[in-house]
Amino acid sequence: MRAPRPELLRGQAVVITGAASGIGRALAQRLSRQGCPVAIADVDEAGLAVTARSLTSPTLSRILDVRSASDVAVFADDVGRWRPGSLGAVFNNAGVAVNATVVDADAEDDKWLYDINFHGVVNGTRAFLPLLLDQGYGAVVNTSSVYGLVAVRYHSAYCASKFAVRGYTEALRDELRGSGVRSVTVHPGGIKTNIANTARVRSDPSGRGRSQAQMAREFDAAAMTTPERAARIIQRGVEKGKSRILVGPDAFLVDVLARITPTRAADALAALDSKLSAASKKEIVR
Ligand SMILES: NC(=O)c1ccc[n+]([C@@H]2O[C@H](COP(=O)([O-])OP(=O)(O)OC[C@H]3O[C@@H](n4cnc5c(N)ncnc54)[C@H](O)[C@@H]3O)[C@@H](O)[C@H]2O)c1
Repeated sequence: MRAPRPELLRGQAVVITGAASGIGRALAQRLSRQGCPVAIADVDEAGLAVTARSLTSPTLSRILDVRSASDVAVFADDVGRWRPGSLGAVFNNAGVAVNATVVDADAEDDKWLYDINFHGVVNGTRAFLPLLLDQGYGAVVNTSSVYGLVAVRYHSAYCASKFAVRGYTEALRDELRGSGVRSVTVHPGGIKTNIANTARVRSDPSGRGRSQAQMAREFDAAAMTTPERAARIIQRGVEKGKSRILVGPDAFLVDVLARITPTRAADALAALDSKLSAASKKEIVR
């Protein structure tokens, strides 16, 4: 007999990739506080150790590159043995950014990003899905972005990867109908995390000669949501049974623009962006 589909994650095991920083760390901390055994993974050994030390529930911590399908499969086997039949959600959250024009983009940088942002999500989904299907409940929660709703300049590879995550996760949703397992897409707006600091940036794609640190400061000033708030929104969305979770007020704005003016949404965002960066420059100067 199939277990009933749990409404709340409280007390159930969860898997979180990219848990050494940002949204992944905040999710791990939040769910751990609620008594969820937390399996966390990241390539960043030091950052993952900091996250692991901050958790209060049982923790399985794994240094893992989500680009390796075989390592992700071993991780899934270990999680299955660690907490058999009680997996509430798998958060395929690990991700990176590249800032470049299409003409100047470095092929290696773009491949690095596609392998993590898209293939990492595919690897996590394929490895953990059999566990969830055997249970007959649980959620695969894949992180896309607002850049999986609207595509903008200087983020071609990032947007392509996040549109791919969205397409993959939505196709899976259709396949999972009637299985008891859910497939959820997360579309965060700007979240104050490390992502702009660790992005691969060879030169300022806007041609204004800004350093990466300066671009990261501007990103941080414009980002509207903290990782802790993002984690709360994501958890609540999963628990409410949402298929698509928008994170932050800017995500709702982008979603509306994408619907009412799909071909002009990027123009509207560019206008908004110049206002925001003018405001953030004032903020930085202050
Ligand atoms: N911060 C934002 O504004 C924003 C907006 C939309 C979507 N997102 C998405 O949210 C997710 C989390 O990002 P964040 O903002 O918390 O960034 P972050 O840089 O703070 O955290 C990302 C984590 O992923 C890990 N990671 C990178 N490559 C990995 C790999 N190969 N294997 C395992 N782990 C790896 C990093 O070490 C890091 O700990 C990403 O998918 C990102 O694209 C972020």
